[in-house]
This record gives sequence, structure tokens and C-alpha cells, in this order.
Amino acid sequence: MAEAAFSIPSNLIQALRGARHATVLTGSGISAESGVPTFRDAQTGLWSNFRPEDLATPEAFRRDPKLVWEWYAWRRELVARARPNEGHLALAELEQRVPKFTLITQNVDGLHQRAGSRNVIELHGNINRVKCFEEDAVVESWNQTGEVPPRCPRCGGRLRPDVVWFNEPLPEDSIGKAASAARNCDLFLSIGTSGAVYPAASLPFEALEGGATVVEINPVPTPLTARATFALRGPSGEILPEIMRQLAG
Ligand code: OAD
Repeated sequence: MAEAAFSIPSNLIQALRGARHATVLTGSGISAESGVPTFRDAQTGLWSNFRPEDLATPEAFRRDPKLVWEWYAWRRELVARARPNEGHLALAELEQRVPKFTLITQNVDGLHQRAGSRNVIELHGNINRVKCFEEDAVVESWNQTGEVPPRCPRCGGRLRPDVVWFNEPLPEDSIGKAASAARNCDLFLSIGTSGAVYPAASLPFEALEGGATVVEINPVPTPLTARATFALRGPSGEILPEIMRQLAG
């Protein structure tokens, strides 16, 4: 068998064995091996002429609600066809081994839950939920009139995906819980995120300030790399299962 291009330091495995509260932050890189393009690679095919910053904003929705709805409908289908990969599954397994485990994700694809993770904080919402643009309240069902986007059955406002767009605040309870889980953990893993979008990007640094061992898993360096206790360079769908194998060994 070919040797892995990365090696897992034995003191990282020891830190994982001794962890009482592990907090994990994931970004779109963890879903790359499920075939969901990362946020900044997401523009393929029909959508290659658009930048996410031009589609994922309230201003874009006001300007062209049909375009934005259809972009999310395309991404929703892509996510529905995708399956959790070895990285998602390893994190679900890790949750069973650590007394307290918090998984914070910036992803809206729901793949962590489908892999079996339980304590998940969705910082940026979920693409499968829909809310009213006017009332900001989740809507479960609506009349299928063929209008795109559909209308809110209560107020007639336009419906939109229940995700956080650029220039929008994060749900207060999720960012509060995420910050507390970052500050109070003894081990923090930052996986598949470029660290470009705040406030999520500040969570590993809060964990460092709280004295946690901070581990980064990413094929390329990020602003966290130089400060991380361990930086493992490679795909999370290979590194995480290898960590789990060594933990079990
Ligand atoms: P990005 O697209 O910015 O970054 C994806 C990261 O995943 C990059 O650092 C890649 O190097 C890394 N990556 C790629 N393949 C990987 C693999 N197989 N294993 C591990 N890592 C891999 O996506 P995010 O950091 O998730 O927010 O972006 C954060 C937020 O920016 C998104 O949630 C979205 C966007 O603005 C909102 O929509 C509010």
C-alpha cells in the first residue's frame, strides 16, 4: 500500500485521547470529496460567470430574486445527490469517543448530520430550509403556483433559502454557542476552511487564547497555519480516517 503523504504526530493522537471537550470547525473543504465544490470553486458550468459575492447577498436577491433562487435550487440538487465522505464519517465517530464534542460548521449542506454527527452548530444556516425574505421566519410549505421564487403563505413576501448571506449577521444563538465552545475546549480542529470569512475565522484564535491545542487540516496553508499547534497538509477525507485508525490502534 502507498504510504500517506502526511504523517500524524503521535502527540496529536495523545492529545485526542486525553481531550475532554473537543470543538471542530468545518468549512466547505470537508465536503469537497463528496463532490460539493468549495465555496470559492462553486461556480462551474452555467454559473461560471457569477461570483458568490454577486449571488449570495440580500442586494442580489432584491435585484434578481429568480436568479438567486435558481442558483440555490441548483446547489440544493447537487447537495441532495452528494453523500457524506470518510471525513464526515470520521467526525461522527470521533464524537462518540470524546466526553464533550461540539461541531461548528459553516456548511449549509447538512452532510455532517447525514453522517451521524449530533451536536452540530450550523453557523451559516441550511440550504434545505426556506424562510420568508420579509418576515425572516422559517416556512415549511407554500402554494406551488409556478412563481419563482415562491411566495410566503402568510404575507405574500418572497421565499429565500435559510442561509446566511454576505452582509448579514449570523444567528445570535449559534455564534454565541460557537464562541463559548471555542473558548472552553481543550482541543480544537479547523478543517477545510480558508479562514477568510469572519466571525467563523476567529474561532480557532479564540481557542488558542483559551489554551487549547489547535489542529488544522487543509491541503493548503491558511492564516491559521503558522499559529496552529499541528498543521496537517492534505485532504480531510484521508487524514481524518487515518487519525481514527491510529486512535483505535
Ligand atoms: P472556502 O471555499 O473559502 O475554502 C475552502 C477550503 O477548503 C480551502 O482552504 C481549501 O484549501 C480547503 N480544501 C479544499 N479541498 C479540501 C479537502 N479535500 N480537504 C480539506 N480541505 C480542503 O470555503 P469556506 O472556508 O467554507 O459563507 O468559506 C467560508 C464561508 O465563505 C462559506 O461558509 C460562505 C463563504 O462566504 C457564507 O455563505 C456566509
